[in-house]
Amino acid sequence: MFKAVLFDLDGVITDTANYHFLAWEKLARRIGIAIDRTFNEQLKGVSREESLRRILKYGGLEKTFTTDEFAQMAADKNKNYVEMIQAVSPQDVYPGILSLLKALRRHDIKIALASASKNGPFLLEKMALTQYFDAIADPAKVAESKPAPDIFLAAAAGVNVPIQETIGIEDAAAGIAAIKAAHALPIGVGDDDVLGADIAIVSNTRELTLDFLTEVWENNIN
Ligand code: G6P
Ligand code: MG
Repeated sequence: MFKAVLFDLDGVITDTANYHFLAWEKLARRIGIAIDRTFNEQLKGVSREESLRRILKYGGLEKTFTTDEFAQMAADKNKNYVEMIQAVSPQDVYPGILSLLKALRRHDIKIALASASKNGPFLLEKMALTQYFDAIADPAKVAESKPAPDIFLAAAAGVNVPIQETIGIEDAAAGIAAIKAAHALPIGVGDDDVLGADIAIVSNTRELTLDFLTEVWENNIN
């Protein structure tokens, strides 16, 4: 049986993936780059700086800005994003997530956050979920962001569980790649055309029950 579940946050626990998109879209528009939701799939799970690099490359502007201007744009996007998430509340937790967290605790299965977002702890507070998490991996302290395995390895280490005994839950292609690279068992939230047809996927977080996770785990090891 698995001993810990490593959760991504944006797009898994709540709808903040959408706010990230809206904030990037606004920033990109200001510098004359139009991004859409298809392109946005490449930003999901990716750090703030890497997201901006990808947007600039997409718009052919990767050599246009100084280091200071780059830092200022990343800060502006975050300021806008932080304004958007002020209103996040427990009502914004995706369906099924709270009951999954409670069931995991009842069964003594550890819970850790493996989000690339520096706003993760703030959001958990806003949603009144902090108490459920045994560890929050700090994205500022890992060497490489998703698709590298680092943040998932840090999350498993934070709850003292070998990575092979964990499940990772992700909505981003980069995140699924990170879970695979870490050798945890991935479960995707979204579409298999984005996340891959070779892993367990739910289209709605309501499906993320302890029974479902157990079934995925048992099917995988048998
Ligand atoms: C998550 C999101 C990304 C975001 C990244 C950094 O991985 O999926 O869209 O860019 O976190 O978030 P931050 O809040 O630190 O800018
Ligand atoms: Mg995500």
